Amino acid sequence: MKKLVIIGAGGHGRVIADIARLNGYTDIVFLDDADIPCVSGKVCDYVNYKDSSSFIVAIGNNGIRERIQNLLLDDKCEIATLVHPNAVIGSDVEIGVGSVVMAGVVINAGAKIKNGVIINTCSSVDHDCVIEDYVHVSIGARLAGTVHVQERTMIGASATVINNISICSDCIIGAGAVVVKDITECGTYVGVPAGRIK
Ligand SMILES: CC(C)(COP(=O)(O)OP(=O)(O)OC[C@H]1O[C@@H](n2cnc3c(N)ncnc32)[C@H](O)[C@@H]1OP(=O)(O)O)[C@@H](O)C(=O)NCCC(=O)NCCS
Repeated sequence: MKKLVIIGAGGHGRVIADIARLNGYTDIVFLDDADIPCVSGKVCDYVNYKDSSSFIVAIGNNGIRERIQNLLLDDKCEIATLVHPNAVIGSDVEIGVGSVVMAGVVINAGAKIKNGVIINTCSSVDHDCVIEDYVHVSIGARLAGTVHVQERTMIGASATVINNISICSDCIIGAGAVVVKDITECGTYVGVPAGRIK
């Protein structure tokens, strides 16, 4: 198995390293621009690894994750997809490059998880949902059937989205919010039912 280069050495990166080990990666290095012990170089040092390694971007900020993954893709780097062995993945589910699915997740039949998505610990994505590029579904969030979440939107911890809802790009759904209507205007939404505060 190739070496895995994890870009981002914070807590999220360490969780991803654990998932990578469970997927058989034994040779793992971290790159990060922050001065963190155990880091093997800055993000720009990816070029030293590109011929021998797969990459995963472990940065929670959706826009930054998108920018770095696009840089790697433009430079023809191989991007991994990581699924925790304790995640339950239904039939005909698609999971794109650079996406990570963490422990305790349930993704039900026909859901499409596009590229660079985080499906975080113990969240669920029900049948036929479409989760577009660089979305983050945070810990414990629940998306009912046929929900469509557009690019870079963050669904906060333990938020719920009822079935057949569409949420536009670049939104933040606050922790614990319950989304019961389509969201068509970019912004921050909190509460039950979710309303726009910014
Ligand atoms: C929604 C959120 C992004 C707002 O953060 P912010 O822009 O810094 O906003 P503030 O903290 O200034 O809060 C603004 C107002 O919204 C309220 N508010 C903030 N988050 C809220 C939430 N999740 N539910 C209900 N009300 C919330 C605040 O109490 C405050 O109300 P006030 O003006 O009456 O005092 C943030 O609180 C949140 O929920 N983030 C989700 C984080 C998360 O789930 N992380 C998981 C990582 S896996």
